[in-house]
Amino acid sequence: MRVIASANQKGGCGKTTTAINLSSSLSLKGQKVLLIDFDPQAHATMGLNVTPSDLEKSIYDVITPKENESLGIKDILVPIKENFDLAPSSMILSAVEQELSGMEGREDRLFKAIQALEEAYDYVIIDCPPSIGHLCFNALRACEEVIIPIDMSLFSLRGVAKLLEIITLLKDNVGHDVKSRALITMYDRRTRYSRIVLEKVKEEFGNNLFDTVIRYNIRLRETADYGLPVGDYDKHAIGHKDYGDLAEEVIGSQAAKTYPDLNTMNVAQDILQKTEEYIDMSVKSPVIEQPTYGMEEFSTYSPQSNYSKMVEAIATNPTDSFLNHEDE
Ligand SMILES: Nc1ncnc2c1ncn2[C@@H]1O[C@H](COP(=O)(O)OP(=O)(O)O)[C@@H](O)[C@H]1O
Ligand SMILES: [Mg+2]
Repeated sequence: MRVIASANQKGGCGKTTTAINLSSSLSLKGQKVLLIDFDPQAHATMGLNVTPSDLEKSIYDVITPKENESLGIKDILVPIKENFDLAPSSMILSAVEQELSGMEGREDRLFKAIQALEEAYDYVIIDCPPSIGHLCFNALRACEEVIIPIDMSLFSLRGVAKLLEIITLLKDNVGHDVKSRALITMYDRRTRYSRIVLEKVKEEFGNNLFDTVIRYNIRLRETADYGLPVGDYDKHAIGHKDYGDLAEEVIGSQAAKTYPDLNTMNVAQDILQKTEEYIDMSVKSPVIEQPTYGMEEFSTYSPQSNYSKMVEAIATNPTDSFLNHEDE
C-alpha cells in the first residue's frame, strides 16, 4: 500500500485537482484507491459529488479521540466508483487543530488510522489543507511520498519551501523520511512566466520533479464544479491525458522507490532566498468557520455520492453539456 500526500501550503495550486484526478486515473488502471480528504474546506469531497452537510461522519470522527467510540476509516467510507473510495471531510475538521493541541500522539492519528486499513488499498492519496498545522503534520507523518503541485507562480514555490522545512523536521526529529516530488500544474507553454517558473523548479528539484507536466486545461476547472474526475466527463480532455500519464509515472516509480534524495533543507533555503526579491511575504490562510450542528448517531449508515447520477445525466443528455465549446 503506497500512501501519497498531495501538499503545498499555497492554496489554489492544484492539490485537490491532483488528488481527485490521480486517484481516478489510478483506479481506471485497476489500482484500488482510497482518497482521504484531509482539508476542512472539503473540496475533494464536494469535487466527488458528496455533500459534506449530508454526512453523519467524516475523517474528523476518525482523527479526534472519543471516550467510548473508536471509528476507523472503514466506518466513514463513501464508495465513488469501481476501485475508488473516498474518506470524506467536513468543516468540523478544522477543530482538530485545537483539539489535538497538547495531546500525546497527536501527530500519529492519521498514520494509525491508515495502518488499521491493513493494506486494503494499493494507493492511499491524501488531499492536504493549505496550512501548516496538526492536519498537515499528520498527513506528512502518515505518508511515505508527497506530491507537491506547483502552479506557475512564485507564491507556490514559497509554499514549497515551508513544506520542505517541515519534511526536514520530520526526518530530523521523528526519523520519518518522506520522499518529495514536485509536479508542475496549470502549465501554459505560451507564457514566458510559466517557462521561467518551470526553469526555477527544475533547478531546485532536479530529478525530484515528475516528467509529467499538467497543462492548463479549462476542463479540469469545469468538471470540479460538476463533481467528477475529468475523465468521467470528457475522455478526450487534455487534463485526463495528463493525469493518466501521471498515474503511469507514479505506478512506474514503484520499483524505483530509490529516486535520489532531495536535500530538503538546502532546497527550502534556496527557494526562500531566490523568491524573496519577487514576493510580498503575506500569504493569508483561509478563514474557516466553525460548524454549529451536532453529530447524531444512526444505526445504518450508507453515505452516497451523486457521482453515478452525474455520469448518467451527461451520458443521456450530451447536448446540454458544455463540451461543445472549443477552447483547447
Ligand atoms: N491544470 C489545471 N488547469 C486549469 N485549472 C486548474 C488546473 N488545476 C487546477 N485547476 C483549478 O484551479 C483551482 C485551484 O485548484 P485546486 O486543485 O482546488 O487547488 P488547491 O487544492 O491547491 O487549493 C480550481 O478551480 C481548479 O479547478
Ligand atoms: Mg484543495
